[in-house]
Amino acid sequence: MYSKKVEDLYMEVIRRSKLMNLLGEVSKIITHLDKEEDIILAILTVITAKQGLGFNRAFAFLRGQEFDLLRGKYALGPSSPEEADSIWRILEKDESLSLDKLVSKGQKLHYLRNSPLTKVTSRLSIGINEIEGVIIRGMHEVRFVKKDDLKSEADLRVAEALGLEDFCICPIATVEDSIGLLIVDNIFTGKAITAEDAHLLEMIVSHATTSLRAAQLKESLKKNVESLKATYRKLRAYEERIMKAERLAISGELTSSVIHEIKNPLVAIGGFARNLYQSKTITGTDRDKLEIIMNEAMRLERYLESLQSKVSEIKLEEGDINQVIEDNCQLLQKDFEERNISILRSLAPDLPRSQFDVVKIHEVFLNIIQNAVEAIGDSGVIRLGTWPDGDTICIQISDNGKGIANEQIYKIFTPFYTTKEEGSGLGLAFAHRIVKDHGGNISVTSSEGKGATFLVTLPLIRQPNEAEAEKTIV
Ligand SMILES: Nc1ncnc2c1ncn2[C@@H]1O[C@H](COP(=O)(O)OP(=O)(O)OP(=O)(O)O)[C@@H](O)[C@H]1O
Ligand SMILES: [Mg+2]
Repeated sequence: MYSKKVEDLYMEVIRRSKLMNLLGEVSKIITHLDKEEDIILAILTVITAKQGLGFNRAFAFLRGQEFDLLRGKYALGPSSPEEADSIWRILEKDESLSLDKLVSKGQKLHYLRNSPLTKVTSRLSIGINEIEGVIIRGMHEVRFVKKDDLKSEADLRVAEALGLEDFCICPIATVEDSIGLLIVDNIFTGKAITAEDAHLLEMIVSHATTSLRAAQLKESLKKNVESLKATYRKLRAYEERIMKAERLAISGELTSSVIHEIKNPLVAIGGFARNLYQSKTITGTDRDKLEIIMNEAMRLERYLESLQSKVSEIKLEEGDINQVIEDNCQLLQKDFEERNISILRSLAPDLPRSQFDVVKIHEVFLNIIQNAVEAIGDSGVIRLGTWPDGDTICIQISDNGKGIANEQIYKIFTPFYTTKEEGSGLGLAFAHRIVKDHGGNISVTSSEGKGATFLVTLPLIRQPNEAEAEKTIV
């Protein structure tokens, strides 16, 4: 009787000392780790190594982005009895290897990510709200499960895929959060899992879970910061586009449709920033940046609204299209010279004067000729031609630049379509809009590598009310 007590006490001391040693080792290992994957590998190694708890296999299921799903993430252990011999022999060659050495060796071998068992596990998921499920209940308490206990479809699918027979489930949870669960078994040795084993398992897992949660939060914070940076970049890009839009608005060319094209993504950026701002995980300077993004998005939205009101009607006056073309050539003279571009004019001397908005039509041809210059790059020819045709005036601009691919040609009048690093993609969209507002037409033909030809037709006389009527239809 007395000796039995001594024996029990002795066992208890041994048990506690083993636990303390293990917990100490786990702490030592985990303090150096800050990635979810590394921490899980450390936990799984401690659980499956002979120097640790010595389970044959361990599987980790973790909550992912989806709130109502546990996804199989990692597994450690052999996928077959044959593998049981080989893989663990690599890691256990040196029986005296300490746990932390074993963990870093496993990390170096990228063992966890590439193991066949991890691959099988990562294809599995379990619905958190599965009422019938036995496995999912292991999220909240340690459970011993036999294959025959499993009835639900999801449980059977997991058991089938992992070859589970008798196993134990242990929650991975902090006081506030349920993160996932671990499944362990001794499928190859057939050794029964005792309450004592399960207790040790629970202690070790709960010991490591706080670090795991911290690592997960850190990783998600990193992702948030990344998307914050991307948002920042987008905002800058929109600011540049708006600046270009403003220049065009000053000459009355900014149309409502283009304002909308800018405004919609801006509103989305503002909304995204506000959502992120509400998340408590973003702190310090990142939070300050978020606030800047929110305010900037709002400022730009207001700015766009004020721009919209600046959109003016076309102001018709009598003018000479040849003169507009000449003015443009003078403006671009320096570019022509620098790039060795010759201008061949065939401007009809008897071209009748016509009615158009001088400022806007000037902008149209400036855009088209500038595009021709940019398409040529270095050395080439631009042909400029005008001629009367009944009650219209035709203006043709041809270049022998790089041309436009067939599959791209229908896009070039679309706002923001550009193939240039610094381009806004607004030039031709505005040109098209302005020509249409004048009751004219603009078309393009091109063969890639050989050049492009733009043909603009404008009516000789344009009634302002006619223009208004068309504007409302388009
Ligand atoms: N003459 C041309 N030769 C070849 N491609 C052209 C020509 N004109 C236009 N393009 C193509 O059409 C695209 C749209 O032209 P658009 O003038 O609308 O914008 P962008 O020139 O790219 O930008 P921005 O006008 O702000 O400088 C160009 O990026 C280019 O790919
Ligand atoms: Mg352009």
